[in-house]
Amino acid sequence: MEKLVITGGTPLKGEVTISGAKNAAVAILPATLLINGICRIENLPNISDVKLYCEILEKIGAKITWITKNEITIDTRDICCTKAPLDITRKFRASYYLIGSMLGRCKNVQVGLPGGCNLGARPIDQHIKGFEALGANVEVTQGNITASAKKLVGTSIYMDIVSVGATINVMLASVLAEGTTIIDNAAKEPHIVDVANFLNTMGADIRGAGTDVIKINGVKELKGGSTYSIVPDQIEAGTFMFAAMATKGDITIKNCITKHLESITAKVIEMGGTVEESGDTLRIKCTKRPNKANIKTLPYPGFPTDLQPQAGVVLSIADGTSTINESIWESRFQYTQELCKMGAKITAQGKSAFFEGVKSLSGAPVCSTDLRAGAALIIAGIAANGKTEVYNLEHIDRGYENIEEKFRSLGAKIERVSE
Ligand code: UD1
Repeated sequence: MEKLVITGGTPLKGEVTISGAKNAAVAILPATLLINGICRIENLPNISDVKLYCEILEKIGAKITWITKNEITIDTRDICCTKAPLDITRKFRASYYLIGSMLGRCKNVQVGLPGGCNLGARPIDQHIKGFEALGANVEVTQGNITASAKKLVGTSIYMDIVSVGATINVMLASVLAEGTTIIDNAAKEPHIVDVANFLNTMGADIRGAGTDVIKINGVKELKGGSTYSIVPDQIEAGTFMFAAMATKGDITIKNCITKHLESITAKVIEMGGTVEESGDTLRIKCTKRPNKANIKTLPYPGFPTDLQPQAGVVLSIADGTSTINESIWESRFQYTQELCKMGAKITAQGKSAFFEGVKSLSGAPVCSTDLRAGAALIIAGIAANGKTEVYNLEHIDRGYENIEEKFRSLGAKIERVSE
């Protein structure tokens, strides 16, 4: 078992470069199944979710060549199997994109019901509603999902809930469908635009991604032959922004899209930080104890739920009492119990948590309960006095590339140790 051992108390200073977005990568990889050809993907984050996805794609007949650790070519001409490996697909949430892409390509697919971070109930009724509206027959039995169709025909689909996954999945299923599909009340996250841009580069006709109405005109074929570079990770950039705030640091974040970070920049300024923007670079500085702030998580362009725990660390040491309202996931406050082991005073009740800011945290052994909770605990460990040990690193490795090396390059005293 591995753990991170952190000696806290160092303000983070220096430059860090953001990797490609995890949530775009885990949608673009299955989207390659819609292509009858070879494509090249650059700026692919080197994280365990990406490696797992590549393993699944290879098992169903894709040929993947790693050019560098962040660049692959993928040949999807010989897809030979419509049953995704059930044991692997159960391991992570984003395997649900295989349903949309394989249904689009082969009109038939079986996938293990997706797992992923334990953030509360994670239904996929909106995905299923979309597939059925396109003409598919979907069955959920014994932990598996089977979807099949004679043909898929475009139609208008209104999403009852703004869902990132359902928006992308219906987009995937409709790219090769007959006629036009309209997704109303679509999610608008940056990675939705990225998946649409990728598919359009390969020959799809998708309009309106990034707004709440997406129109997909079905095309006969996606040919490949092109190169696509994945968008920088909004959540990784935000993680370093809150790390600067929690450690009274001065971090220059390179390779980010500042437009995607507006809701986060606004909170950083409210917390007393300064933000300098220049092209694709943001410099975040904090010279005093952070101010209190209230946060409500919302779909994009609101404050992202995936940065709620990292912001929570800053609020745990802010001057005054703050509130976070979580409106997306019902169990996203598990990290607050770990922060309390480090001296934080947080009361979580249902969808709200109340942070009575303490002057400082003190190091303790803590468990990463999910991916973003893990990132938050690393930030807490760097900000705290004394030694922190972070366990359950498999969550963190799913979504952050070289996380300890990046923090170390900013001056953090952090080591990965095998027990
Ligand atoms: C994606 C992200 C995840 C992020 C989340 C919200 C990926 C791989 N994961 O997850 O990191 O936290 O967006 O930004 O991109 N819902 C339903 N029925 C459905 C689908 C969703 O009720 O069919 C509900 C969910 O329970 C949740 C809300 O809608 O309360 C939003 O979920 P959704 O946007 O679908 O999240 P994911 O795509 O799973």
